[in-house]
Amino acid sequence: MLNIDKLNFSYGDMQVLWDLDLTVNEGEIVTVVGANGAGKSTTLKNVSRLVKWTSGSITFNGADLAKHEPHEVVEMGIVQVPEGRKIFPEMTVLENLRMGSFIKSARPDRDANIDRVFQLFPRLKEREKQLGGTMSGGEQQMLAIARGLMANPKLILLDEPSLGLAPLLVKFIFDIIQEINKQGVTVLLVEQNVYQSLRISHRAYVLETGRVVLTGKGEDLLNDDHVKKAFLGM
Ligand SMILES: Nc1ncnc2c1ncn2[C@@H]1O[C@H](COP(=O)(O)OP(=O)(O)O)[C@@H](O)[C@H]1O
Ligand SMILES: [Mg+2]
Repeated sequence: MLNIDKLNFSYGDMQVLWDLDLTVNEGEIVTVVGANGAGKSTTLKNVSRLVKWTSGSITFNGADLAKHEPHEVVEMGIVQVPEGRKIFPEMTVLENLRMGSFIKSARPDRDANIDRVFQLFPRLKEREKQLGGTMSGGEQQMLAIARGLMANPKLILLDEPSLGLAPLLVKFIFDIIQEINKQGVTVLLVEQNVYQSLRISHRAYVLETGRVVLTGKGEDLLNDDHVKKAFLGM
């Protein structure tokens, strides 16, 4: 579905991604784990076309993303839920959700999608008139994911959805990611929470200073000595 091939990317003269190869097959949850600064967000920004790579390629269902602008990428079915949530603080929950269905193809499904995300996140329904900026961190993360789903993604890009959340909420968010995947959405997740994210992943990549150093099934990486030492404190 998504095919990243020998991608190189620099911010100015600082190279951040080095010959990055990564694939996501339809129906999978694929995770990129890595420390702060490894290049996880930059990888997602390249897929969304928010930044432009220097060499290599990214294709989505065979289409060359180099030929597309960010809004076209969304129309094609790739939706990014950015790091730090970035909801609209002065808008209510419901208004935030409606903003998520701004693309033409998602507009006819707006009401059905609101029902669908309220089923996933009953907390949001209870708070539909509350201003986004007054919600707790966990609720804002729920809202950010729900808003992403409003655009009918085929592939959802989740940038550190568990960051800064209490353990119970972290578990809830990872359960929700699995549920979204079961409902037919392919997931590309980037995370520093290595244990929880590998647990739910079909496959994963370990990124270190912009290079893939290891890839495999989530459960195999959980048992890998390097992963255990570098990320799990074992
Ligand atoms: N807008 C930017 N301009 C310059 N350097 C950046 C920018 N964004 C990120 N970087 C640098 O690129 C590297 C990778 O960052 P990032 O992709 O955000 O890592 P991660 O998401 O894995 O924490 C870091 O060294 C970071 O400082
Ligand atoms: Mg990041």
